[in-house]
Amino acid sequence: MADPNYYSMYKGMYVPKLIYFPEGLKYWEEFTFRPDDVIVVTFPKSGTNWALELVPLVLSGGEHSKEPTWERSFAMGHRTALYMDLDAQPSPRMFVTHFRYDAMPESFYRVKPKVINVMRNPKDVLISTFHYHKITEFHPTPDSLTGLQHKFLEGHIAFGSWFDHVKSWLNAEDKSHVLYLTYEEMAQDLPQVVRRVGEFFEKRPDDEAVEKIADMCCFESMKKNNTRKNLMKKDRTNCSGTPKLPVFDHFTFYRKGITGDWRNHLSEEQAQHFDSVYEEKMKDVDFKFNWD
Ligand code: A3P
Repeated sequence: MADPNYYSMYKGMYVPKLIYFPEGLKYWEEFTFRPDDVIVVTFPKSGTNWALELVPLVLSGGEHSKEPTWERSFAMGHRTALYMDLDAQPSPRMFVTHFRYDAMPESFYRVKPKVINVMRNPKDVLISTFHYHKITEFHPTPDSLTGLQHKFLEGHIAFGSWFDHVKSWLNAEDKSHVLYLTYEEMAQDLPQVVRRVGEFFEKRPDDEAVEKIADMCCFESMKKNNTRKNLMKKDRTNCSGTPKLPVFDHFTFYRKGITGDWRNHLSEEQAQHFDSVYEEKMKDVDFKFNWD
């Protein structure tokens, strides 16, 4: 099982105790969405912050918000929502979650707000997680990559099994309000992804806006972005009422931003084992991922 000192169980998923409090989870269970709300959904380390940068830029036609990411996108399950008047927030409100499809609040299935679901090669998710868990205090520091890989494949990690997470969203009962993206296609052709997101929201930015947005969302721009930097280093005690969150260093968070980094870390044996579990667990999935 996952380390009980760090995680509690919520709807069959492990959630970090330092961030997910019972009263916050209850608040979100009873939360009512608006039809024009937007939700970025990911398994952790799959490009959450990338999508949180890109989506609002598409919606605004390329106008950069001065607010840091976490003050303009509301993290579902976090207790911080208790201290913000979400009803008073103008539309379209943006949310972010690592919840599985079946763990969403009841109003989600009724109201059907738009969802941007970003998936990433799980071997790269593992590597990114390995580094991230070393720099955050709300996850246990991994002893070794082999140990973390074992936990990852068993689903004994924050938000449980990557396989269950991805499959739950791919099997969403109503897929008409979900746009499925991969980290790999964002890395391969970001302007094309900007266009796809634009189509999804019926915004269709012109060529100049597409280039501008893609430029603002490239790894180097995001790493350099001071607004995002201040955000990551900020002590959030005052705005949220939560204990001081162990916030990590911005530059460490924007680590490599590449595809296929698993090749630099996994031994042949580790990669083969990963692939055999992957093939078994994903054999009933017909979505064409572009990481193979
Ligand atoms: P790496 O650790 O592989 O570098 P999340 O936001 O879900 O926590 O995901 C973090 C991962 O996305 C990190 O991966 C981070 O570097 C990468 N990332 C963030 N912004 C990116 C961008 N603009 N381009 C490419 N990768 C990005």
